[in-house]
Amino acid sequence: MDSSATTRRLQHLSRHFKASNITTPPVRVTVTGAAGNIGYALVHMIGQGRLLGPNQQIILTLLELPMAKDQLEGTMMELRDCAFPILKEIRGTTQYDQGFMGCEIAILVGAKPRGPGMERKDLLAANARIFKEQGEALEKYASKNVKVLVVGNPANTNALITAQFAPSIPKSNFTALTRLDQNRAQSIIAQRVSANVEDVRNIIIWGNHSTTQFADVSQATVQQNGISQTVRGLVADDAWLQKAFVEQVAKRGGAIIEKRKASSAASAASAVCDHIHDWLIGTDNGTFVSMGVVTDGKLYGIKEQVCFSFPCICKDGNVKVVEGLKWDQFQQSMIDKTLKELLEEKEMAFSVVVTK
Ligand code: NAD
Ligand code: LMR
Repeated sequence: MDSSATTRRLQHLSRHFKASNITTPPVRVTVTGAAGNIGYALVHMIGQGRLLGPNQQIILTLLELPMAKDQLEGTMMELRDCAFPILKEIRGTTQYDQGFMGCEIAILVGAKPRGPGMERKDLLAANARIFKEQGEALEKYASKNVKVLVVGNPANTNALITAQFAPSIPKSNFTALTRLDQNRAQSIIAQRVSANVEDVRNIIIWGNHSTTQFADVSQATVQQNGISQTVRGLVADDAWLQKAFVEQVAKRGGAIIEKRKASSAASAASAVCDHIHDWLIGTDNGTFVSMGVVTDGKLYGIKEQVCFSFPCICKDGNVKVVEGLKWDQFQQSMIDKTLKELLEEKEMAFSVVVTK
């Protein structure tokens, strides 16, 4: 294994180890839907230091609906019983003011999940209202530099709504989770070419966290025995990469729902930790990660404001979209399809939340 691979492996391992030198002030993190499937897994991963590393103390607030008060209390009891050293305080609430007061990282998981046979669009109206309320609450109570990650589906459109209703917080502080799709894609390629998953880099998820997303390997490489090779060259099967692979990644969430009779939970929570960790700690040199970001009218010629997943580089808490990548006809058609869906979702969602 080459030295950069060794470094990455050690960095990865260090995320899981317990705090030894706690020095910086605690960071205020809020998780909504904290007693649900993802929330339950996520708050324990946060306690283990997966979000900001093992030395960063956290004041963790768990926000839930009043009807989930008992589950919230039970989750907090278990979290306390873990005696995680980095959790300076654990708070639980069903009120937005207490949930978001001074919040610096908001992870918005709470939403109605999709059940077997349901389309994500079926949930759009109900969830649009939830994310409007949460945007308004962030506007009122959170830090003006709060970093927001939306997980609840349809995640991209919910992130756009949240940003819209928190106008004093920069749009660049709102993101949607597509890291789970990236992780899925990396894992499929690693298996296909018999590589370590962390040695597969720079697969891009473009667009929506939905079945129209486009998992693109045109920039992706695999590091093996100190040599970097392209995924396209190693796989040597463009037909598979453009169809079966893309579909497998895009439909993985639905396939898990069919088997588990519930939406993916631990893998989603793990991807949340990866997303926030890389956003705030920074991406590795030469590596980009996929994140849903709010477009500004200039990125890749997308004129409309949507929350679109792009390849991103993160440094000092800022997200920079990797620009200038060229698309061929196939890529362009895939991107047009996912953008079209996002525009339709936006229109439907805003017709629910924008009162004339
Ligand atoms: P779940 O039903 O197990 O948990 C949701 C929790 O949210 C519940 O405990 C509920 O009480 C709570 N909740 C609902 N509305 C709330 C509100 N307004 N404020 C606070 N809490 C609220 O669902 P889950 O399996 O944890 O999934 C949560 C969401 O994440 C779903 O929308 C699911 O589709 C989505 N998801 C996204 C990804 C992704 O990669 N972006 C992956 C998996 C799941
Ligand atoms: C996933 O990708 O696992 C989920 O977003 C699926 C879903 O619709 O809840």
